[in-house]
Amino acid sequence: MDVKPVRVAAISSGKGGVGKTSFSINLAEALSRAGNRVLLMDADFNLANVHLMLGQTPDKTIADVMSGRCSISDTLLPGPASVRVVPGVRGRGLADIGCNSLLSLIQSVDELVGEIDILLLDTAGGFQERDMRLMAAASDVMVMLTPDKVTIADTAEYIRTLRQQYGVQHFNIVTNMVRGQRESSQLMQALQSQVGFDYDLILRHVGTLPYDTAVRKASDSARTWLQTDPDSKVCRGIQAIADAMNQQMRAYYPRGGMTFFFESHILAGGC
Ligand SMILES: Nc1ncnc2c1ncn2[C@@H]1O[C@H](COP(=O)(O)OP(=O)(O)O)[C@@H](O)[C@H]1O
Ligand SMILES: [Mg+2]
Repeated sequence: MDVKPVRVAAISSGKGGVGKTSFSINLAEALSRAGNRVLLMDADFNLANVHLMLGQTPDKTIADVMSGRCSISDTLLPGPASVRVVPGVRGRGLADIGCNSLLSLIQSVDELVGEIDILLLDTAGGFQERDMRLMAAASDVMVMLTPDKVTIADTAEYIRTLRQQYGVQHFNIVTNMVRGQRESSQLMQALQSQVGFDYDLILRHVGTLPYDTAVRKASDSARTWLQTDPDSKVCRGIQAIADAMNQQMRAYYPRGGMTFFFESHILAGGC
C-alpha cells in the first residue's frame, strides 16, 4: 500500500501563556486551507483549551481513547477549514498519565494513517517528564518564545534540557507578541546566547508574530484569527510559517514510507 507519511509537529514552550494554543489552531487552519489533511490534537494534559477556543463541546476526549472506551475517530470534531480536532481534558483527568498511556494514545492515531498528512500537537510545554518525552518523539519541535526576560531564561533552560536529557537537536522557534523584526532578532540572539554554544543544537527561527490587540479580542469569540482578521500582520506571519512547512512537506515527505512518532523516545528509560 502506498501510505502517505505523517508529519508530527509539536508546539511547545518553556513557559505558559505564550500563544501555543492560538498558534496551533491558526496554523492548523492555514495548513488545511493549503490542501493538507490536518489533525489537531489537544495534547495539553493539564488544561486543554483547543475546544474552548473553538467553541466546541466535546462528547468524547483523549481520556476516553486512553482508557479504551472509544477509538480516536469517535472523538473527532470538525475544526476550522477541514481540520479535524481531537479534544483534550481539563482539570485533573489526565494528571497522572504515564508513558504507557501516552504511547497508547499515540498508537491510536495509527488508525488514521493514510487519512492525514500532518498531526499538530498543542502541548502544555514545560518540564514534566511525559511532556518532554512527547516533544522528543515528534518529528518537528516548535517552540514559542515571547519577549520577556523570564520567558527567555525558561525557554533556554527548556531547550537545553530537551537537548541534554532527551537528545532533541533541532528546534523551530516562533517569536510571538513582538513589536517588529528588530525585537524578534534581538530575542533570537538573547535566546541563542543563553542556550550557549553546542555544535549539535540547531535553533531555527521559523517565523515572527507581532503583538496584536485585535487578535487578543478575537480570542473571546469562537472564530479563529484567520477568520476574523486574515490581513493582519499576525495572520500573515502564520501564513508564512504554513507556506514554508508546506514546501518542506513536498520536499522531505515523499510518498511511499511512513514517518511517524519516534515511539521509542517515549518509552526510553520509563516514566
Ligand atoms: N500575537 C499575539 N498578540 C496578542 N495576543 C496574543 C498573541 N498570541 C497570543 N495572544 C494571547 O495570549 C493569550 C494566551 O494565548 P494561548 O494561545 O492560550 O497561550 P498558551 O497556549 O501558550 O497558554 C491569549 O489571550 C491569546 O489571545
Ligand atoms: Mg494552551
